[in-house]
Amino acid sequence: MLVAGVDSSTQACKIVIRDAESGELVRSGRASHPDGTEVEPKHWWEALQRAVDEAGGLDDVAALSVAGQQHGMVCLDSSGEVVRPALLWNDTRSAPAAAALVAEIGARAWADATGTVPVASITVTKLRWLAEHEPANAARVAAVCLPHDWLTWKLRGTGSLDDLVTDRSDASGTGYYDAATGEYRRDLLRLGLGRDDVVLPRVLGPAESVDGPGYRLGPGAGDNAGAALGLGAGDDVIVSLGTSGVVSARGERQGDDPSGTIAGFADATGAFLPIVVTLNAARVLDAACRLLGVDHEELSRLALSAPPGAEGLTLVPYLEGERTPNLPDSTGAVHGLTLGNGTPDNLARAAVEGMLSGQKVGIDALADVGVRPAAVRLIGGAARSEAVRRIAPTVFGVPVVVPEPGEYVADGAARQAAWVALGGDQPPAWEGGAAERFEGSPSAGLEERYREAAERYLPRLDRG
Ligand code: XUL
Repeated sequence: MLVAGVDSSTQACKIVIRDAESGELVRSGRASHPDGTEVEPKHWWEALQRAVDEAGGLDDVAALSVAGQQHGMVCLDSSGEVVRPALLWNDTRSAPAAAALVAEIGARAWADATGTVPVASITVTKLRWLAEHEPANAARVAAVCLPHDWLTWKLRGTGSLDDLVTDRSDASGTGYYDAATGEYRRDLLRLGLGRDDVVLPRVLGPAESVDGPGYRLGPGAGDNAGAALGLGAGDDVIVSLGTSGVVSARGERQGDDPSGTIAGFADATGAFLPIVVTLNAARVLDAACRLLGVDHEELSRLALSAPPGAEGLTLVPYLEGERTPNLPDSTGAVHGLTLGNGTPDNLARAAVEGMLSGQKVGIDALADVGVRPAAVRLIGGAARSEAVRRIAPTVFGVPVVVPEPGEYVADGAARQAAWVALGGDQPPAWEGGAAERFEGSPSAGLEERYREAAERYLPRLDRG
């Protein structure tokens, strides 16, 4: 029996077709999405068709699930037409709306109600922006859904707004859903959109399904929850080093962090997925390559030839502002430069240690809510760097496991589809792919040095 998993990500649509019982990869396909933070959803639909064609069609598939980029605002009118292009998670025009919504009821109330203090990514802030800037469009809205919900609905093909479905993980990133109770908070939807007489997708349980055209359609997931399911991460912390850094872990209860450091999302198995997002990750290494005039391989070689701690060079990685800690206008810095330690090796090592120390802030924040990982799973573009793999355990203080690069989000969706198709209390136990394990003792004094460096930014933090 075959199942399909889709990842409709910001850049592209990926599909994997796997054997439901063993998880073995049978076929796959991929098609690009247009650039931009505002996108006509029809492009996602067309890319999905192309990816499905490349993967040889869906005729022999028993179930399919769609995972995708979180938070994007897809508004439909009463005839099911898209009201305006979707605003994506990385569209920041709703930052003032986010600040206003937090000021109106307070960060504590948001964290208690939904697990998350809204930032510009969160859907409810985009609805507030729509109501304020495009009132005619806001008045036409008959249903609000997310990118993965819309694709599931298009695959379903009924055209009825009442057939919209979603899952807990993606609903938990809207700002108007409480995953702890499983209820929408229509009062918060009203705070954003100015009204609450709209259809919201029915939230399916982790292995619930609806009819598709010839196969079952699973609930789908947000991409971070999809990756956690695809990796089979269990209780390990996942650190994803892409354009942004995402630190996440399975949790037993919904987060309620009023500082906004931890977003208290749900996962795709019925539990929770607290996550911490930093803006500075893989691109810190790009910047170090440019500074040193070297490529990534040479940067890695240089970093590994310097001693742990880079002889006291500290690189604060807030190169384009930072989200965690909340320093949107900050810049990076190099501290501790002396005549003796100012070498390319030390600068390369400081860039790697600095970027990883930025992620350690997320690991520590999760530790504060009881997450004590036996290991960190390191994924994303920067996890390909040998220096990053070897230095990570010395910064994180736990062993680091690096799985083979793969389509973890689409794999997670496929594993969910297999759960739908096979039934049972748990997703099928697919064998994990190859992974490399790295160990190392914590680098003496490094953590204190980076904490002190971050504290130099505290006056700015206090101001707000
Ligand atoms: C999470 C977030 C991103 C998107 C990327 O809050 O905004 O990880 O889901 O696709």
